Amino acid sequence: MTKTIFEIEELITNRIKEIQNIVADDPYRLHYHLMPQIGLLNDPNGFAYFNGCYHIFYQWNPFETKHGIKYWGHYISDDLVHWKEAPIALAPDQWYDKNGCYSGSAVVHDNKLYLFYTGNVMDDDGNRESYQCLAVSEDGLEFHKRGPIIHVPEGYTPHFRDPKVFCEAGKWYMVVGAQTTEGKGEVVLYTSTDLDNWTFHGPLAGSGRNGLGDFGYMWECPDVFRLDGQDILIICPQGLEPRGYEFNNIFHSGYFSGKVDYEQVTFEHGRFTELDRGFDFYAPQTMIDDRGRRLMVGWMGNAEEGESIHPTTRYEWIHTLTLPRHLEWKDGKLLQNPVEELQCLRENEIEYMDVPIDGDKISLPNVQGNVLELEITIKELDATSFSFTLGENNEITYDKLKKTFSLKRLNLADENNYEKRSCVLNELNTIRLFKDTSSVEIFINNGEEVFSARIFDYPADPNIHFSANGNVSLDIKKWSLKKLNAFNTNHVNHTIGI
Ligand code: FRU
Repeated sequence: MTKTIFEIEELITNRIKEIQNIVADDPYRLHYHLMPQIGLLNDPNGFAYFNGCYHIFYQWNPFETKHGIKYWGHYISDDLVHWKEAPIALAPDQWYDKNGCYSGSAVVHDNKLYLFYTGNVMDDDGNRESYQCLAVSEDGLEFHKRGPIIHVPEGYTPHFRDPKVFCEAGKWYMVVGAQTTEGKGEVVLYTSTDLDNWTFHGPLAGSGRNGLGDFGYMWECPDVFRLDGQDILIICPQGLEPRGYEFNNIFHSGYFSGKVDYEQVTFEHGRFTELDRGFDFYAPQTMIDDRGRRLMVGWMGNAEEGESIHPTTRYEWIHTLTLPRHLEWKDGKLLQNPVEELQCLRENEIEYMDVPIDGDKISLPNVQGNVLELEITIKELDATSFSFTLGENNEITYDKLKKTFSLKRLNLADENNYEKRSCVLNELNTIRLFKDTSSVEIFINNGEEVFSARIFDYPADPNIHFSANGNVSLDIKKWSLKKLNAFNTNHVNHTIGI
């Protein structure tokens, strides 16, 4: 028999009590990123601003470090930096979501928080059904399920999921990630006047549409928004082959920009651009906050990529979300920068001006640590290449001849080898880097390119070694970053919990 949310919460609380000491012993527990208390986290869900607080939910399997039956975990913050853990928001306790409350989104309407998610149902023979479902909350803590509001339309397989709801010119829209019965990835559009009743309008974009060639067998986690006069569709296509520096991870996450005509259900768009050039980034979600900023959070991970050999699984947890990023549109590009609120984490500022790098490996007093923020301004780059290390096994390189920026890390699957991700970069002006115990996020040229990756080499050489083939001059600022570690102690009170 299906368990009630109260029984499920009790099971999770007991499981947390049972293994929290194991989790806490992991030197790779992050200091200022959102992680699951135990178990597996994947996509961010329901990112919203409600009653003066930011809410972020996440796909959570509290009972295993594998994908499986998913719940919606929940964190709340008033500054995007300090998060408090709220009670589990959605549990798979109904016939229409019994094999997982899959990804979705949130909107605020009539002082209530509306969650839209995919109910995943599997039968004994492994056949899938999916339902787009609604749950509503008045206080942002306790959610009342209203059940399925959308069934899979004709022409699509049950790989139909991840509803993202948004308001455009006073009207409600929903985009859903889909697979056609011919096995093509698409994103489809719905409209509504009341958030309960939805009308299907067919595909907005997809593989083989709008001038695209073959572009994957499934599109997951769509998001559509307007930014400085551009319509942007973020999408995670599955089934793209690697092409040069692009599409080298197993699944990809990127955007199209152009013009959506909501009446005609058309989207004239340009090429697909990957959002992040590192190893670990997928399923991002955006929201607009009370200051009018378009903010984005992603999953710093990717399904099926080394998850079973991830070092943190020995400590009964896996994966993290990225730092929240502020999106802007400038000169035909989406810029991504860490939200300014993160500056409150800074401590012990160190600054060096006009540092000459003109040969092998120099390190600077106090420019070191496992958890830090680094701001580098490149004053002069008269060198064929410029590199610096992060720990013993990771290296960041700008190759001025090839015009590429790369991140190299130890290959988890083969510790005698390295792996590399690169992107084309015509010039290098600035680098802003956030290192946590087992992650790095690198923002290049004020957010023109971003690399996110998990890196595991503890205890590492904490010194950063700079080197150049030629003459380079840098201004460097470095901060230590506070350890928040709030997640096991800072609970939000709730009415339905134990
Ligand atoms: C993306 C995804 C979504 C799905 C969820 C399940 O990572 O596969 O399409 O809703 O994860 O956890």
